[in-house]
Amino acid sequence: MRILLLGSGGREHALAWKLAQSPRCEALYIAPGNAGTALHGENVSLSPTDFPALYQFCQAQAIDLIIPGPEQPLVEGVADFFQEKGVPVVGPSRAAAQLEGSKAFSKRFMESHQIPTARYASFDAGQEAEALAYLSDHPLPVVVKASGLAAGKGVLICNSHAEASQAVREMLRGESFGEAGQTVVIEEFLQGIEISIFVMSDGQHYKLLPSAKDYKRIGEQDTGLNTGGMGAVSPVPFADAAFLARVEQEIVQPSLEGLASEGIPFQGFLFIGLMVVAGRPYVLEYNVRLGDPETEVIIPRLQADLVDLCEGVVTGTLDQKEFALDPRTCTTVMLVSGGYPGSYEKGKVMTGLESVSEAILFHAGTRQEAGQVLTHGGRVLAVSAYGANIQEAVGRSLQGAAQISFEGKYYRRDIGQDLM
Ligand code: AMP
Ligand code: GLY
Repeated sequence: MRILLLGSGGREHALAWKLAQSPRCEALYIAPGNAGTALHGENVSLSPTDFPALYQFCQAQAIDLIIPGPEQPLVEGVADFFQEKGVPVVGPSRAAAQLEGSKAFSKRFMESHQIPTARYASFDAGQEAEALAYLSDHPLPVVVKASGLAAGKGVLICNSHAEASQAVREMLRGESFGEAGQTVVIEEFLQGIEISIFVMSDGQHYKLLPSAKDYKRIGEQDTGLNTGGMGAVSPVPFADAAFLARVEQEIVQPSLEGLASEGIPFQGFLFIGLMVVAGRPYVLEYNVRLGDPETEVIIPRLQADLVDLCEGVVTGTLDQKEFALDPRTCTTVMLVSGGYPGSYEKGKVMTGLESVSEAILFHAGTRQEAGQVLTHGGRVLAVSAYGANIQEAVGRSLQGAAQISFEGKYYRRDIGQDLM
């Protein structure tokens, strides 16, 4: 197969690494890719949301499968656009992508299919007074969410009514998140343990991918600002067979069946963020793609041909595909630029990459120039490693992290510690 992968992060490097291992991968292009994806295919400098340009490229290169990494092209309808052109896409339709693109949609969906989630109400721009009235006697803390895509920043956990009211007002008036905030979801705060579940579905059948936990805060012991993710661990020890069976029964199956019953069967990767409260899983959010950095720990644990599985997704034959998981633990530690998630400098020369032997390096924000690898983003490099347990795997990730140098390098040394 001739494959076009969309995106440029660590997730896409991990996907490229795995796709290129398949004997069925005839050609792999990554738009736009990074210095790591270039090791497994050819980077092409096209935007993942410029559908007409991507289509031209597909025609010129006889592409027969598109795999979008990030959510933006999916929410903008990349699957619908290319379905019409006859190029299959491993990703949901624009209608199904609303699960991520609109929290108001996903909450309504969960409510109508009895999928456990936090109690909520949603309000549009014309309903400021109603929203503030709803808030006024809401128990604290209360969670205020911009309904649309907000690059992971649209969720505020408010400890006072004044703070929550201000957040709601700013969102509805379009002052804080633009259009994404002009519908808000106000919901109950759930206290528990978070875990991410990943599913690959062809609309009728599904495979449960490994579970993972990510570490979102910049500081050790989960302090400081939220980031795109500073590390991840898979599997999550408490997610044993009994727990996963419960998640499949109470959440995965009703979600996929609910979408099919609404006429929008889900084809692609579904990422379900859960909060486990007193042993019971609740859905915090759906994403219609794989997570980053979760992909950098779940893809290395996949013992199957990813090209085969992707073909199963677009042909409705996922049930016939071979599938197994590596029982080992995989962890990743993300190296980031000094200053991230605030402002940071790019273009720092990276050294020591070739000396890392006990870990797999997945590039996130890097680029190649004159034979050197330079930093090119906030999250720079994911250092993934296997082990018999978290301790062993994370030891190797940290050892790899220490061997790489660039000015301003920062990483968390406590990834996985809470699970040991
Ligand atoms: P979301 O983008 O909806 O997953 O929210 C981002 C993060 O905010 C989640 O990973 C949780 O840590 C937190 N969060 C979201 N909703 C809730 C909730 N109802 N209760 C507690 N924490 C939440
Ligand atoms: N690591 C969280 C995400 O990809 O949304």
